[in-house]
Amino acid sequence: MDKLKNKRIIVGVSGSIAAYKSPLLVRELIKAGAHVNVVMTPSAAKFVAPIALTSVSKNPVAMEMFDENLQNGGAWHVQLAHWADLMIIAPASATTLSKLAQGNCDTALACVATAMPRNIPLLIAPAMDFTMWDHPATQRNVEILKSYGAKIIMPESGELASGLVGPGRLPDIPVLIDNIIDCLDNKAKEKPVDAFASPKETLQDSIDKDKWNAEMELQKLKSQMNVKDSDKFLSSKKVVITAGPTRENIDGVRFIANYSSGKMGYALAKAARNAGAEVVLISGPVSINPPERVKTINVISAEDMYNVAVNEFIDSDIAIMSAAVADYTPAYPQAGKIKKSEQGEALVLELKPTKDILKELGERKKSNQIVVGFALESENELEYGRKKLEQKNCDMIVVNSANKPGSGFAGEDNTITILSKDQEVKYDRMSKDNCALKILEYIRNFGK
Ligand code: CTP
Repeated sequence: MDKLKNKRIIVGVSGSIAAYKSPLLVRELIKAGAHVNVVMTPSAAKFVAPIALTSVSKNPVAMEMFDENLQNGGAWHVQLAHWADLMIIAPASATTLSKLAQGNCDTALACVATAMPRNIPLLIAPAMDFTMWDHPATQRNVEILKSYGAKIIMPESGELASGLVGPGRLPDIPVLIDNIIDCLDNKAKEKPVDAFASPKETLQDSIDKDKWNAEMELQKLKSQMNVKDSDKFLSSKKVVITAGPTRENIDGVRFIANYSSGKMGYALAKAARNAGAEVVLISGPVSINPPERVKTINVISAEDMYNVAVNEFIDSDIAIMSAAVADYTPAYPQAGKIKKSEQGEALVLELKPTKDILKELGERKKSNQIVVGFALESENELEYGRKKLEQKNCDMIVVNSANKPGSGFAGEDNTITILSKDQEVKYDRMSKDNCALKILEYIRNFGK
């Protein structure tokens, strides 16, 4: 949460029933040390009292462009927009999406959002009835806003105020906070834009488009299946997850590692936490932030990961081994630095096998425990995956295609097939977050 300390955040609130959650969002941001200014639409004031937002943000709330109290001799909306490190509109109604997509600035909220400098993150969390969300006009507006650089936080499926069930719910506050932190982090890592570079309508754009389509597909699926995200189906369950690479020391300054980013394991940890589980994430060295409200244990080597995993597994219900554990480690790591001058023509490293954590858990597993492994394969995927399922005594293996575009270790997406004793379910390429939801859904229906 330190990431939010002293960050300047504008919270936009528009007229959706979910507006009642906005004081909770503001309160969490303030608790984390952020400075918050709220801009709301007049319709939002029908759902949440401006005074509630003034109290929690400790700042006056802007609602009317020409409110005398806001006039400070300059363009207050532009000054406010240029003050911020990030703006989040949560909830964003269909009307507000439409106004922003069209550049229609007839509310204070639309004025501020449109005045945001283009390099400052604008996060938009739509929330509405699902027939409104599903409407082509709304979807087109979302596409337009994405093409302008806004980041959309997908609404979740569940029971809506109308009584209908489907996508449209504002995600819970921790999910909104995670998105804010991710956005601020990405912004901090961004390279400066080359103003003279030619516009890029390239691979990344088509990848983004694919991702969006996959997210939409998943939402449709969820609403067909009448799955409620609000169901905390893992509550009172302990889930142990391994993630990321391991590092095997060659000497005091060098190691053997791999390209695993840890994203898949971290996505699983967040999804399991959101489903109510007590999550223990055992992570090798990665450059992503530990998820909020997840016990994260950082380890370096395969040996460390083995020791922690075996111990945490004892009282757990589910173990998901998504780490890319080194299969071999130097047999004689040296304490200091290996000197070139002390070697002959070639340096020969002797490697010894590491302990297979997944296999160990598979052997120790009791009848009420579920063990899930991963298999990153480049050929004969299903055959090798099934072998691992048997040899490591797992309940499921998530086969991960190393060859599919955008999938694998460092990518944002994965193309997975879940194998269990008598089943094989293939999924199209989708974001790692959605793969995590699919894997948990599979575990939920596994019947143990
Ligand atoms: N795994 C593990 N401990 C190890 C090696 C692998 O727990 N020492 C786990 C991984 O986390 C993953 C699964 O085993 O869940 C499969 O890993 P993978 O590297 O694909 O398989 P290997 O058994 O190492 O076989 P190979 O590398 O030959 O495909």
